[in-house]
Amino acid sequence: MRTILPFNDQWLFAPEPLDARTPDDRFKTVTLPHTTVELPHRNFDPSEYGFISTYRKRFTMPEPAKGRRVFIEFDAAMIAATVSINGVQVGINEGGYTPFSFDLTEHLRGGENLLQVELDSSERADIPPFGYVVDYLTFSGIYRDVRLVIVDNVHVENVFTRTSDVLTAPKLSADVRLRNANRFDRAVSIRATLHPYLQRGSANAVTQEVTALVPPDGTLTTTLHFDNLSGIHLWSLDDPKLYTLEIEVTADSGLIDTYTTRFGFREAIFKDDGFYLNGSKIKLIGLNRHQMYPYIGAAAPQRLQCRDAEILKYDLGVNIVRTSHYPQSPHFIDACDQLGLLVLEEIPGWQFIGDEDWKGIVLRDVEAMIMRDRNHPSIVLWGVRINESWDDEALYTATNALAHKLDPTRQTGGIRYFLTSQFLEDVFTYNDFSNTVVEPSHTPHLVTEHNGHMFSTKTFDNEERQVEHALRHLRVQDKQFGMPNVTGAIGWCAFDYNTHKEFGSGDRMCYHGVMDIFRLPKFAAYVYESQIDPKVRPLVRAATFWTPGDRAANGNDPLVVFSNCEELEVYLGDKLYGRFQPDRETYPSIPHAPFVVKGLAHNMTHWGENYFDLHLVGLIDGKPAAEQWIEANSLPVQLVLEADDTELDADGADMTRLVFKVTDKYGNRLPYAIMPINFTLEGAGNLVGENPFPLVGGQGAMYVRAHTSPGTITVTASTPRLPSATVTIVTR
Ligand code: GAL
Repeated sequence: MRTILPFNDQWLFAPEPLDARTPDDRFKTVTLPHTTVELPHRNFDPSEYGFISTYRKRFTMPEPAKGRRVFIEFDAAMIAATVSINGVQVGINEGGYTPFSFDLTEHLRGGENLLQVELDSSERADIPPFGYVVDYLTFSGIYRDVRLVIVDNVHVENVFTRTSDVLTAPKLSADVRLRNANRFDRAVSIRATLHPYLQRGSANAVTQEVTALVPPDGTLTTTLHFDNLSGIHLWSLDDPKLYTLEIEVTADSGLIDTYTTRFGFREAIFKDDGFYLNGSKIKLIGLNRHQMYPYIGAAAPQRLQCRDAEILKYDLGVNIVRTSHYPQSPHFIDACDQLGLLVLEEIPGWQFIGDEDWKGIVLRDVEAMIMRDRNHPSIVLWGVRINESWDDEALYTATNALAHKLDPTRQTGGIRYFLTSQFLEDVFTYNDFSNTVVEPSHTPHLVTEHNGHMFSTKTFDNEERQVEHALRHLRVQDKQFGMPNVTGAIGWCAFDYNTHKEFGSGDRMCYHGVMDIFRLPKFAAYVYESQIDPKVRPLVRAATFWTPGDRAANGNDPLVVFSNCEELEVYLGDKLYGRFQPDRETYPSIPHAPFVVKGLAHNMTHWGENYFDLHLVGLIDGKPAAEQWIEANSLPVQLVLEADDTELDADGADMTRLVFKVTDKYGNRLPYAIMPINFTLEGAGNLVGENPFPLVGGQGAMYVRAHTSPGTITVTASTPRLPSATVTIVTR
């Protein structure tokens, strides 16, 4: 039987290369996911983390491994890992974004074993994405999960669930690859069970079984067919139904392996006239996501990975995310499956193609990405070009062929920024920085980036710039909604990110997000959020800080209000200023156009005139559905502190975000409140972040990490002149 041991805890870490004889007192104990150094949220560069470090873990085998194989599996480590066990090197992995595993069996001992990883986190020119410049930081550490897997000499190596005819007569074909590490062949029977299988209203399982002879020292792939499945519930954006397939392998000695994989039944096709999910056309509206977080680089545990997917799905309301520019955490992709969020996943790389060895890694990355992720229903397109690289016919013919061979069920794209680039993929995926949407040169056409560096915008920029940033996203999205030959547009990007000196705002940040690096919204976030179906969540979001004299020539004219309501009432204090309709003339195509309120200058905001609270009421069917208040008297009145979660796992790695802001009496952040906030923590956890924290645009965030002992964590935030704020988190 298969044993899977989570292997994240009790690692020893030293920020230098050390050999296996170096005593443990040179190391400190850490839990994975781990970054080699915690950083501020900006103003640093790769020299702070780009070094060689050493990880080690001492362990005894939990059970005898005779007649079995023992693998160490890493979900990823940045960027080159040399792994040894008991002083014997078992392998080197080059590449920071895909999983790797090594067979430890021959070198294990009865007593204590020493697993050691020498990890090079420098910008290695021989490994993608490096070789030239790159617009993002890659960070360091064994930053994803690790496990020890013990299996029989004959075991399942991979299962590919291929669904077909899902709209008419759903079928499932499961390709099961078995490995036999014995020197003799082995007769086995393979049983596959589909859960939950609902027939005539009752939950059942349905099973298929085959027998096979697995050759010595080799592999065998057998396909099990489930035809004529009835009552299959399709995976969709609103109802992302998931199934699991459980594989059991039996030999004469009994059950020798079990393996489960999760998947969904859905049909996803890019056609010349649009993207179709389960036969219905859906306009794709999305954002790019980098995997980096403030302070911890890429080393975010499961909870934060899932939270990002929730932010994209529920706070931003998008239906697709591009994992720019590399395969992202399995927890993130799992969450996209669970929430119903489509994914374009791509290989690592940025604007540069290296030599033949480097290209060899590219092909390996294609394989590793697809082998890891081809059962995820959320993934609808593979990106098999280096983002924005020049044409390379031989390389991209090979990446496309490999992708189609490993996964005949999905189309490919390859992200480019020139329209004349060779079209070797199935979908023409194009980064469009024209500030509009260009007429496609090939179809199917998908815009994979827009905006970004064309109008970098900070949460602490002037209101006019933040409004224009939002309008630029709006114009592109509105335009693409009106173009039947464009399948969708994925904006650059969801969150601000850390970058190199060749890019960004000098503080090593690219302020390209519709949210900041803390995942707190700019006005541009409201362009996306306001496209949410009002039945799900009606909302009104004014793109203003409602100050009398901060814009050119003072006042607030025009006032742009993003909303999914049908009508808008604008009140100044208690007095109705007017009723407004969405601005369909300027934005004819996007599902929910904003309200553009004009003339406010003449009514109230003459320089120095009496200034009132802004009160907005969104109406649906003539009835109030959502409202917003912004105070005219915008003095700091409260320090708000909120935790995303009130409970954490006491595993030494789990984290939640703490958001804090200084607000008016209605809870609106005051963008020019830049006071320092001091934090204290009591209990079974620690703060991860800058403390004191000088507010950025009136707000900020840090994390609380749980320790391994359960208990209660209390965090208090304080600043002179305001009452302090406290949150309590329980760890179990
Ligand atoms: C693109 C690139 C992205 C990012 C973006 C900024 O050219 O693909 O990684 O740099 O520009 O707008």
